[in-house]
Amino acid sequence: MTAPDDHVIVLFGATGDLAKRKLLPGLFHLAAAGLLPDGYRIVGSAPHRSAMSDDAFRTHAHDAVAAFGRSKPTGPVWKSFEESLSFGAADPEDPGPLLAAVRAAEDSLGGPSRRLFHLAIPPSAFASTIGMLGDTDLAENAKVIVEKPFGTDLASARALNETINAVFDESRVFRIDHFLGKESVDNILALRFANGMFEPNWNRDHISYVQIDVPETLGLEGRAHFYEGTGAFRDMIVTHLIQVLGIVAMDPPVSLAAGPLRDEKDKVFEALRPIEPGDVVRGQYEGYRDEPGVAPDSTTETFAALRVEVDNWRWAGVPFHLRSGKNLAQRRQVITLGLREPPLRMFPTDLAGQERNRGNKIVIDFGDPGWIAARFLTKEPGPAMRLEPATMAFGYAGSFCEENGLEGYERLILDAMLGDQSLFTRAGGIEHIWAASTPLLENPPPVQPYAPGSWGPEPAVGELIAPYPWYLPDAAEILPGTSGTSGTPGTGT
Ligand code: BG6
Repeated sequence: MTAPDDHVIVLFGATGDLAKRKLLPGLFHLAAAGLLPDGYRIVGSAPHRSAMSDDAFRTHAHDAVAAFGRSKPTGPVWKSFEESLSFGAADPEDPGPLLAAVRAAEDSLGGPSRRLFHLAIPPSAFASTIGMLGDTDLAENAKVIVEKPFGTDLASARALNETINAVFDESRVFRIDHFLGKESVDNILALRFANGMFEPNWNRDHISYVQIDVPETLGLEGRAHFYEGTGAFRDMIVTHLIQVLGIVAMDPPVSLAAGPLRDEKDKVFEALRPIEPGDVVRGQYEGYRDEPGVAPDSTTETFAALRVEVDNWRWAGVPFHLRSGKNLAQRRQVITLGLREPPLRMFPTDLAGQERNRGNKIVIDFGDPGWIAARFLTKEPGPAMRLEPATMAFGYAGSFCEENGLEGYERLILDAMLGDQSLFTRAGGIEHIWAASTPLLENPPPVQPYAPGSWGPEPAVGELIAPYPWYLPDAAEILPGTSGTSGTPGTGT
């Protein structure tokens, strides 16, 4: 593949949690895999109150890579990565040290190079940081990666898009959603559009429901300040789950280039029916209000389950069930497509009835490394016609050279350097999602308590999608020989 041109990468929020857990380890993994440009420099930045020396930033990066990276910080690759790091503090009213650090980085590369700004900062700092890039000459020859949330509702998303586009033309804006960089999400495009076995069935004539399920076992992890004003709907649903829904539901693009791919995905968002409060269950785990930094009367949801509809020719009438929450029984990332049943009259009806929820499905586990399974009914050997569910499965683990795989952030940062916007979200698509969310945001149903380690507020979550179940087969059941998942089986399994 083509290597990116030489780059100076500026990491705003370099002292924060995202940089520590994902961005610094991810950049180092790209360096170790030989995927960074020949000439690159990484400038960490943060407000003056969190300023660091270059050496302190190198130590910070070392510790982050050691704790969270797949590639460990040793040897010549680490040495040259470390030498590429420097730090330049910046406040909107005083960008001096950052300007100096970027100039020094460019000089060491032999003159002006491409710039990539990664804004891993709180939403409250977006506008002033982008303004600062525009007021200095930093925005020249530059692309910008913007982190979610892209606003908190339609009006704020529009305002944010205007702020960004006042400085950066849309062709230089990379709104990042790391779920879209996951290998097994990208693979949905291959599964659907490279196989005659699946695509002809991928519509309302053959599919009765779609489930996108991302329960998490993690709790707040010290992120109360961010989470209190955000909640599960804005943190996970309008971002990751609906982006995945876009990939699952889109029509075939004429090519995988950024324009056609995003056109088709954005049409799905445009076709989302308004999300009504009655189609949503909001939950809050017991004990959330006692977490440090959480208001004692907080109504922030730590769980959201929804029934949404994509009102177009392919999907009209097919419910999409979305679920995500903190402190649940399992950490999973699973898409299920429930296929319509053929008439089962010729089979003993009681057997077919018992088993019907267990066959007839396509299941895509997009947790790393991920697997895909088709569940179908088969005849159990013996004199009688007894139906039993069986599985055809593909597991990524062990199937290909896993070392070639990149994590979501790694893939997307590389794409941004290459200028490939295919897997990034556009202003218009984001605004369609917020527009569909308006009825819910204006009138959210009350939060219902749930026990940590459970599956959210019951019976409301089950009733929301009845008569369909929440279906979450254990990995060990699909791929014998794998360790399976922790916790109890999903409800409705
Ligand atoms: C982040 C959310 O974007 O995604 C977190 O802010 C969530 O709350 C995380 O835990 C999940 O991503 P992953 O890749 O760690 O499963």
